[in-house]
Parts: sequence; C-alpha cells; structure tokens
Amino acid sequence: MDELYKHMLRSTVQVESPFVLHSLPDHTMAKRKLSTVQLQLILISMALATATATATTHLQFYVHDVVTATAGSPATAVHVARAMRPLPGVPNVRFGDTIVIDDPLTEGPDAASPAVGRVQGFYTFVDQHQLAVILSLNIVFTAGMHNGSYLVVQGKGAFFDEVTELAVSGGAGRFRGASGYGLLRTHSFDSGTNNAVVKIEIHLQMFQGSCEFTCESNLVPGTCAALTSMDMESLEM
Ligand SMILES: *[C@@H]1O[C@H](CO)[C@@H](O)[C@H](O)[C@H]1NC(C)=O
Repeated sequence: MDELYKHMLRSTVQVESPFVLHSLPDHTMAKRKLSTVQLQLILISMALATATATATTHLQFYVHDVVTATAGSPATAVHVARAMRPLPGVPNVRFGDTIVIDDPLTEGPDAASPAVGRVQGFYTFVDQHQLAVILSLNIVFTAGMHNGSYLVVQGKGAFFDEVTELAVSGGAGRFRGASGYGLLRTHSFDSGTNNAVVKIEIHLQMFQGSCEFTCESNLVPGTCAALTSMDMESLEM
C-alpha cells in the first residue's frame, strides 16, 4: 500500500467529515478531482472492509446424550420414527429411523459441571447402506453471557468416523450472522446403555461488531488477543 493511500485512509478515519479534501496535498483542480474519486473509492473499500471484517471465536463444551435412563438422569434422546427396512448387517437400525434429542450441554465432561445449555434437534438415518445420519441441531444457551442465544448446526454424521464435522449455518441473539463449523468427538461411551458424552468444539466466524461477547471463560486461551487487533492495522494490510 503506498504512503499517500495510507495517509488518506488515516485522515478519513480521524476527521469527523468523511470528505477530507482539506487534508490532502493541495494541487491543481484536476488533481483534486482525481483525489475526490480516489477518496470515494477508499470510502467504499473501507465500508466493504468493515462489513466483511470478522473475528474468529472458539468454544468448547460437552454434550450428554442419554439414550437409556439411569438412576441420575432421564433419557434425553427419544426414537420417534421407526422405519421398515433394516440397514445391511445392522438389524436394529432402519433407513429412515429418526431420533429427537434434548441433551444437556455442560462446561466439562462431568455431568455435574456447570450447565451451559441444551443441544436440541433430531437426526435421521438417511443412508440406505450404512450408518450415516443427517443431524439438525440448535445449540441453545441457557446460562452465562450466551444465555438466550443459540447456534444452528447441521451436517452429516457417520458413526465410525473419529471426528464428525458439522456446519454452523447461523445463529440468533449474540450469534446472529455467525458461520463456521463444529467438531464432535466421542469423549466416553457406555456400550451397556449406549449413553455417550460427546465433546463439541465450535469454531465461529463472527462479524466485527459482535466481538464484545467473546472474552469469557469458555474460550480456548488466546482467542481474545486475536480480536483486539481488529482495528486500523487490519485495514492497512
Ligand atoms: C437465563 O435467562 C433467562 C431469561 O432471561 C433467565 O430467566 C434465567 O435466570 C437465566 N439463566 C441464568 C443461569 O442466568
């Protein structure tokens, strides 16, 4: 970026009026006209830069999927549709089976760790040949700074993959306009009850204006530092 451009950019940001001809080098009228055009281009590019500036946020929680009720916890997953045709080699799962979940979400892997919210939605077995589902979930926050906000998460779950990647397709409240992805990994699984604790890592792209909510305990260390650099420096790159 050349020095004049940088100077103009600074001037544009520092003065009240967006039209800062008086701070530009005073040359001929022709030169001034050119400067006006350049200035307008800069203002447009700055508006675009502001509109598209995003910050990255990482969140990490644990989902408690209780398929079989135990002494301490009622079932949080319910089989609402049982289809007709079993998958090859998997007699107890049918193409089309659908399960609705309302799973607790906590800060740590222990069910007794502080509650964060609920993972609410459903998954349906949509592959005729293997164990694969479409997941459609809302991550609804019920505590802390995110209380009342939610994320919309969707994607494909293949049961034997070590990591399931889901798309964050949007959000509401503090997460309005969010996009990104979520990674699910099984933390623990009880083969007797089929109950599982699943770690969920969420990587979000947020609009610049949403930065204020990110500095809190559930963040992966180091995230806030990345946010504070969202200033003039990023425009000058
Ligand atoms: C979350 O927000 C609701 C509605 O404002 C409120 O009733 C509830 O007490 C809040 N929960 C926590 C844990 O702050």
